[in-house]
Amino acid sequence: MAPPSLKICCIGAGYVGGPTMAMIALKCPDVEVNVVDISKARIAAWNSDNLPIYEPGLSEVVEACRGRNLFFSTDVERLVADCDVVFVSVNTPTKTTGLGAGKAADLTYWESAARMIATVSKSDKIVVEKSTVPVKTAEAIEKVLSHNAKGIKFQILSNPEFLAEGTAIQDLAFPDRVLIGGRDTEGGQKAVNTLKSVYARWVPEDKIITTGLWSAELSKLAANAILAQRISSVNAISALCESTGADVSEVAFAIGKDTRIGPKFLQSSVGFGGSCFQKDILNLVYICECNGLSEVAHYWKQVVAINDYQKSRFAKRVISSMFNTVAGKKIAILGFAFKKDTGDTRETPAIDVCHGLLGDRAVLTIFDPQVPEEQIRRDLSMNKFEWDHPHQLHSHGGSVTSKIEYATDVYEACKGAHGICILTEWEMFRNLDYQRIYDNMQKPAFLFDGRNIVKVADMRKMGFIVYSIGKPLDPWVKDLQINI
Ligand code: UDX
Ligand code: UDX
Ligand code: ADP
Repeated sequence: MAPPSLKICCIGAGYVGGPTMAMIALKCPDVEVNVVDISKARIAAWNSDNLPIYEPGLSEVVEACRGRNLFFSTDVERLVADCDVVFVSVNTPTKTTGLGAGKAADLTYWESAARMIATVSKSDKIVVEKSTVPVKTAEAIEKVLSHNAKGIKFQILSNPEFLAEGTAIQDLAFPDRVLIGGRDTEGGQKAVNTLKSVYARWVPEDKIITTGLWSAELSKLAANAILAQRISSVNAISALCESTGADVSEVAFAIGKDTRIGPKFLQSSVGFGGSCFQKDILNLVYICECNGLSEVAHYWKQVVAINDYQKSRFAKRVISSMFNTVAGKKIAILGFAFKKDTGDTRETPAIDVCHGLLGDRAVLTIFDPQVPEEQIRRDLSMNKFEWDHPHQLHSHGGSVTSKIEYATDVYEACKGAHGICILTEWEMFRNLDYQRIYDNMQKPAFLFDGRNIVKVADMRKMGFIVYSIGKPLDPWVKDLQINI
C-alpha cells in the first residue's frame, strides 16, 4: 500500500475532535488520521461498538474508516511526534477560580498540549487550533511553541469548527463554510494551502474562506454570540407575547419571512444550552473588558442575562400556576439533554429549571431517551462551570439528588404527577398518547411546554391546564400569576 500523503494527529477525542477527524478520514482515504486522548476510557469507547458520543450517522462513518486510515489511541506523544499536522481539540472551559473566574477561558489544557507538542516534535509541523479559544490565543501558543522549539518550525492555523451537535455529520459533510486563518507570510500561506487541500476533497472551493489568524478566531466567538443573541431576542419577545396575548410562533414566522432576517434560529424556548454559547459569550465579554470596551461587554452580557431570566421565568410559572407551591408534588421532567438528538447535557436549561423546582421542594421524575441516570444525578449535584473540569469535581453531596427519580418509560414518569415539564424537543414528545398521560395524572393536571411542541388547543380540550412559552396564557395560569 502507498504511504499516506499526509499524517494528521488530533489531540482530544471529544465532541469536536472525534466526528471532525472521522469525516476527514472518510473523505481522504490517502490521509492517515490519528485521534489521541489522555482519557483511556474515551479512547476505548471510540475503539468499541459503543462510541462515547451519540450523534446520528457517526457510527457508520467511524466503521467505514476505523483501522483503515482512522485510528484512536492514547499513545499521544508518539503520534504527535510522527505527524505533519496536529489539530488541537481539547476542552477550553470557563475558569472557576483566579483571575477572570466565571468569564475567562481556562487554557490549561491547551497550554499543556502546546508544551507537549514542542517537547516531542522532531520535524516541522502545522498546528491547527480547533477548540474555540479567545482571540490571540494562537499568538500565545505560537510563543510557547517557538520558545521551546529547538530549531523546529511551527505554523499556527486557526480552523474553528461550526458543527452543531445532533447534526454533526450533516454539518461536516455539507458545511456552510470552512474557515482557515493563518499568518500572512510565505510559510503561513503554505500551511493554509495544505489544510485547504484537505477540505477541498469534499467542500466546494468558494465555501473555503481564508482570513488572518485573529479574524478566524474572533469569527467563531462572534458567530456563536450572534446565534445566541437571536434566541435571547426571540425569548425576550416571548415574555412580551405572554403579557400582551400575542403568539410568539406567529411573530417569529412573520419576522423570519424577511429575507434579511431569515427563518432559522427563531424558535422560542426555555433557554439555550450546550457547551458553546454561554461559554463563548462570557469569553467575548471578558475580552471586551480586558480591552476597555465596557459598553460592548455590557451589550453581550445581556444575551446571557435574558437566557438566565428565561429559565427562571419558566420555573416560576410552574410554581405560581400550581398554587404557589410545588412542595412534595411530583413533577415529570420530559427531556434533560440541551437539545434533541444528543445525550449531551452541558449547560442544559433543564439543570436550572430542576434546581428552581427542587428549591421549592418538588419531587422530580426525570425521563430522557438518551441521558443516563448517573449523568443526570451528577449534573444536578455539580456547581456551575464544573462540568468541563473533569479533574476537580466538588459535589454538593446527595441532598438535592435524593428528591429526584429517574424513569426509563415516559408514561411511568408521568403517572401520578401533578405537572409535566417538556424541556427538550425530542420528536417522541410530539406524538405521545397525552390522553393516557392525562388520565393517570393528579387533577388539575398541568402541562408546561418549554419547547412549544404540543398543540395547545388539543391539550386544553383534553383537560390539561397548559403553559407554552410565548403563547397566550391559559386563564387559569393568568389568574394565578404574580409579576413574571
Ligand atoms: C427600515 C427597515 O429596513 C424597513 O423594513 C422598515 O419598514 C423601516 O425601517 P429604512 O430605515 O428605510 O428601513 O432603511 P434601512 O435600509 O433598514 O437602514 C436603516 C439604517 O441602518 C440606515 O441608517 C442604514 O445605513 C443602517 N444600516 C443598515 C447599517 O448600518 N448596516 C446594515 O448592514 C444595514
Ligand atoms: C452551537 C452552534 O450552532 C455551532 O455552530 C457551534 O459550532 C457550537 O455551538 P450546538 O450548541 O451544538 O451548536 O447546538 P445549537 O443547535 O446551536 O443549539 C444551541 C441551543 O440553542 C440549544 O439548547 C437549542 O435548543 C437552543 N435553540 C436553538 C433554541 O432555543 N432556539 C433555536 O431556534 C435554536
Ligand atoms: P469538545 O466539545 O470541544 O470536543 P470535549 O470535552 O468533548 O470538548 O473533548 C476534549 C477532549 O480533550 C477530552 O476527551 C479530554 O480528555 C482531551 N484532552 C484534554 N487535554 C488533553 C491533552 N493534553 N492531551 C490529550 N487529550 C486531552
